[in-house]
This record gives sequence, structure tokens and C-alpha cells, in this order.
Amino acid sequence: MSQIDLTQTPLGADGSFEVQLAQRGETYRVPADQSILRVLSDAGVDVPFACEQGVCGTCLTKVLAGQPDHWDMFLTPEEQAANNQMMICCSRSQTACLVLDI
Ligand code: FES
Repeated sequence: MSQIDLTQTPLGADGSFEVQLAQRGETYRVPADQSILRVLSDAGVDVPFACEQGVCGTCLTKVLAGQPDHWDMFLTPEEQAANNQMMICCSRSQTACLVLDI
């Protein structure tokens, strides 16, 4: 039986998505009204942050799969288009699942 690859599936209507932490082997659901950073830090994952507004670059995180929805002002348009890193304090996902290098 083949499995659906959620990193290729478009984000559903409720705006929530899954975040898989590749190093930790954990998966979290990010609701529409919370940031990835908030969900992870509320779960006890130690993620560095400062401004929480997409400006300082402290929360820069490598993306291994899935497509981020960039809302920051830190990455250049070219860096955003590469879709291999994101600011988890404000950016979201365009796909049902993002795999992060955490
Ligand atoms: Fe400053 Fe995310 S915490 S850009």
C-alpha cells in the first residue's frame, strides 16, 4: 500500500499543518492561530528565538521537505524561493506537512 506524501499535498482549508522534526523523530500539529515556534516551545522543544516578528533571523530553521509559506522580512526573495530554510516564528506552510532539521 502506498503512503500519501504530505510534504507534496497542498494545505487544507482549516489552515493547520503538520511539522515533523527530523532529528527528534517527533510530529506536531500547528493550528491556524499559532506559530510553529509557539507550538514547539510549548511542547518543550528548545528553539532559539528573539523578535517573533520575522525580522531578527534568530529562529532560522532548515527545511528538509515540504514548502514553506514565507512571511518574514529576513530572507531575501531568492532565499525564500529556494524553500530550504524558513523563519519558524512567523512563516507557515503551503503543504500539509513540513519536515524541519530539528
Ligand atoms: Fe526573529 Fe524569528 S525570532 S525572525
